[in-house]
Amino acid sequence: MTDDRLVSSGATPEEDQLDQSLRPRSLDEYVGQEAVREQLSIQLEAAKRRGEPVEHVLLAGPPGLGKTTLANIVANELGVSIRTTSGPAIDHAGALGSILMNLSERDVFFIDEIHRLQRVVEESLYPAMEDFVFDTVLGKGVGASTARIPLNRFTCVGATTRQGLLSSPLRDRFGATYRLDFYTRDELARIVRRSARILALDVEEAAVDEIARRSRGTPRIANRLLRRVRDYAQVRAEGAASLDVTKKALSMLDIDAEGLDQLDRRILETIIHKFAGGPVGLDTIATALSEEPETIEDVYEPFLMQSGFIQRTSRGRTATALAYRHLGLEPPGPTVQQTSLL
Ligand SMILES: Nc1ncnc2c1ncn2[C@@H]1O[C@H](COP(=O)(O)OP(=O)(O)OP(=O)(O)O)[C@@H](O)[C@H]1O
Ligand SMILES: [Mg+2]
Repeated sequence: MTDDRLVSSGATPEEDQLDQSLRPRSLDEYVGQEAVREQLSIQLEAAKRRGEPVEHVLLAGPPGLGKTTLANIVANELGVSIRTTSGPAIDHAGALGSILMNLSERDVFFIDEIHRLQRVVEESLYPAMEDFVFDTVLGKGVGASTARIPLNRFTCVGATTRQGLLSSPLRDRFGATYRLDFYTRDELARIVRRSARILALDVEEAAVDEIARRSRGTPRIANRLLRRVRDYAQVRAEGAASLDVTKKALSMLDIDAEGLDQLDRRILETIIHKFAGGPVGLDTIATALSEEPETIEDVYEPFLMQSGFIQRTSRGRTATALAYRHLGLEPPGPTVQQTSLL
């Protein structure tokens, strides 16, 4: 593994293969995200009945919540092929053109990290999404002319961890946008049970719950933790994952009872100790920790915010009373209102 952090964003290569077996293939197998599932299933069904391609779909949300999984499910449910690429991988408009021209009618064209498309590539995607044509330049200089190449009607599925970075013309070309949220403990427990079944691992119910609680609301992390527990159980406990074995395995990973890892805690400590609890800007926090601001903003902050450990204000991030208590500190008292009663 290049990045040994449990919270790291992308799937690791070692993981990719196992992921294939754990990844839900249909909407029925996809746990949680009820609202998204329902709207998407209606959208798919309606398009199927009309025999039309599905409107372009944008999937947004923090890493590991199931965007790639959903893109594949869309193709599976429609019984069409999926062509997968990513924003940074398409390095010029011609590369986009050759992918588009090879799509069959109703195919899914999945663009991961779509917010990282180059400007020129993005601009040649617009007519493709809107009118199913690709404009290409023939020749050079004064003699150059443009040709409009018709395409098969495909469905573009874009995924992004940074919806805010998408240009509005691009956003407008998606017929539907779905935001994925962190999963509840209950949903994560269902995912852990499902994965344990697939891995033929015997896990005690209390252990399932423990893993769910420490998964940071994220299925990818739940599966990661489960695999670590499985390794530990096989080596130390003849394969059975009791609560005790699970706790021991997880304690080696340095994830605390709320699912926060080392960097999560260092972010809170930095805001509290170095910046008196905030407000402090994201870049300043990142510099203090020698981390990339994007990593903190995309990977760490969403969960810390959603679980109420930090707040985002116009002047920067502040640590909440919950954060102080989580680190075993006394939160600063409420600031005394200086309003005069006169
Ligand atoms: N709703 C779900 N039910 C069951 N398992 C899920 C669900 N969503 C995700 N998973 C599991 O979590 C893993 C990670 O999901 P996925 O790769 O789709 O995340 P992602 O949102 O594309 O992440 P990234 O932003 O890093 O690309 C999947 O391989 C799958 O096993
Ligand atoms: Mg993905």
